[in-house]
Order: sequence, then C-alpha cells, then structure tokens
Amino acid sequence: MSYAKVTPQSISEGAGARIRRLFPGPERDNLDPFVLFDEFEIPPGTGFPEHPHRGFEVITYVLQGAMHHRDDQGNDSVVGAGGLQHFSAGSGIVHSEMPAGDGTTRGIQLWLNLPRSDKGMAPAYASVEAAEIPETKLDGYRVRTVAGPGSPLAAHTPLLYLDIELAPGGEHAAWVPPGFTGVLYVLRGELVSDSTPAQAGEAMLIGEGDVRVTTGPGARYVVIAGKPLGEPIRQHGPYVD
Ligand code: CO
Repeated sequence: MSYAKVTPQSISEGAGARIRRLFPGPERDNLDPFVLFDEFEIPPGTGFPEHPHRGFEVITYVLQGAMHHRDDQGNDSVVGAGGLQHFSAGSGIVHSEMPAGDGTTRGIQLWLNLPRSDKGMAPAYASVEAAEIPETKLDGYRVRTVAGPGSPLAAHTPLLYLDIELAPGGEHAAWVPPGFTGVLYVLRGELVSDSTPAQAGEAMLIGEGDVRVTTGPGARYVVIAGKPLGEPIRQHGPYVD
C-alpha cells in the first residue's frame, strides 16, 4: 500500500500573496470536511485586504513572521510565528489579513466546512499564541498539537492538526482517529511515509490509523485530519453554503 500523492498548484491571490494550493484545484476538489488548503507566503507590503466569508471556519497557522487579522465584528489581532488565528465565518464576516512586521509572513490556511446546522451561527474569532500550543520534544522529533488533545483550538468539526519536526534519521507515528480523512503536507526537507517519498511542497492523502514517517536528512510536516461531515460542500469563491 502507498499513499496517493497530491501536488499543490502555485497561484497568486489577494494583493501579491504567493500561494501553494493543495485543493480545491484541477487535480482535486474539496476534501470533506476541508474546503481549502493553502501554504501562503506574503511579502511585506502585500496581503489580503478586506473581503467577505460565509459558512465555514478558517484556521491560519503562522510559520514565519506575523499575521494581522481585523474584522467587522471588532476583532483586531496580531499573532506571531507558532500561533494561530481561528474564526467561524458563520452567517457572514468581512475581514482583512495583512502581514505585521518587516519580513515575509508564511503560514498555512485551512478552510473547514461548518455543519449545515451551524452555518447560520454568529461569527466568532479566537487567537492562540505559540506558547498555548502543547509541544512534545523527544529524541528525534518535536510535535506541536495545533488541534487535538490539549490544544485550546475549538473547531466545530472534530479535527487533528499536528506540526511535526523530525531530526535527521528521525521517525514518528501519528495516530489518526477512526473515520478521519486528511493530508500529510511536507513543509521542509524530505520524508517517507508508508513507502511513499515526499519532499517540501508535496502532500499525500491519509486516513485513519498510524501515519508512520521516517526521514533521511530531516523534515518538518503537518498531519491534518478531520471527520467528514457527509454534507455537500457548495463553495462559491469566499462562500460555502
Ligand atoms: Co479571508
């Protein structure tokens, strides 16, 4: 057995942001419960000026630099590397996301569909600072639980989100709960999972059970999996109805 590999599409969005979009795209539609997966890079002076959303949740995990979120609900929040911003667009929100500070801001933005019964909820925003994310350091690896046991992130859909760093020659097995589906995305270096090799900017589709990874020169990757809602994802640009 080996995992199906997915290669992101390079696009530019907002005002000068560079994006690697895993999905949706020509190769792959949404991946229930996920609507969209982007690794983004925002050079200084660019970003995502005011725009609307509706009907889903957004988790922005900052890898480098800092992100400034402002919205029409009165939230105005800057989060630095290692932290995240989470909002439920619910019935509708208008926000902007601009880099804070002088350097390039990098991160991962994940859109998570809201259950149909929650789509009309009032918009909500919460940030999680780097120090609030549980971290386990052992010989050969470091794991940050961005979402899952011990993380303050409260998504409306059951979610596991791990940021894993493997030392050269290191190995790790992440346990994905029954019925979950998702992706392993390589941020840096190269690795092998279930006899499937992948390098930075590549991903593979994963399911429940152990996701075992070994590395030669070392790697950083995320394991993101959620429980499918089994509801149609009707995406129209920034809206998911
Ligand atoms: Co947005």
